[in-house]
Amino acid sequence: MLSEKMNEALNVQANRELYSSYLYLSMSYYFESINMKGFAHWMRLQAGEELVHTMKMLDYVAGRGGRAEMLAVEAPQLSWASPLQAFQHVWDHERVVTGLINSLVRVAESEKDEAAKDFLQWYVKEQVEEEESSDNVLNKAKAAGDNKAALEAADRELGERHFKFPRGFEIFPYAGFAKIER
Ligand code: FEO
Repeated sequence: MLSEKMNEALNVQANRELYSSYLYLSMSYYFESINMKGFAHWMRLQAGEELVHTMKMLDYVAGRGGRAEMLAVEAPQLSWASPLQAFQHVWDHERVVTGLINSLVRVAESEKDEAAKDFLQWYVKEQVEEEESSDNVLNKAKAAGDNKAALEAADRELGERHFKFPRGFEIFPYAGFAKIER
């Protein structure tokens, strides 16, 4: 059984994961609006991945006999000055999320909840990957700079991204959204 404090902290983090999904979906439609369909595709998959992070956490709360609660989701930014600014935002955002996950591990420690601490290691590892992929896309945007041909090449490259949804999420509706017409 989860303590009240642990239950609440997990619900709050699930909400931040859902906000991440909303933020990346917002970026996806921003990229679509400037006709960068590969970047839009990458962001759409990222939004789907964040929804998995959300539901995995809520499933855990429910599975431990806690109460998964849907908190209000903050509205994300709608537009960015350039692809570089959007990818810089991803980079910054993922560092914030890493800090939140680390704080959540501290809550599990203070609540002496070894099971929650063990569960959260999945997110600790996931953040290493999330930071790495945000480095990767930011570097591509930086290297392209204002060069239109280089940006189009990066757009094509990110349009090739695939994401295998984890077990239990195979019929995830976002999986069908991943296809883009090129
Ligand atoms: Fe779920 Fe990108 O952090």
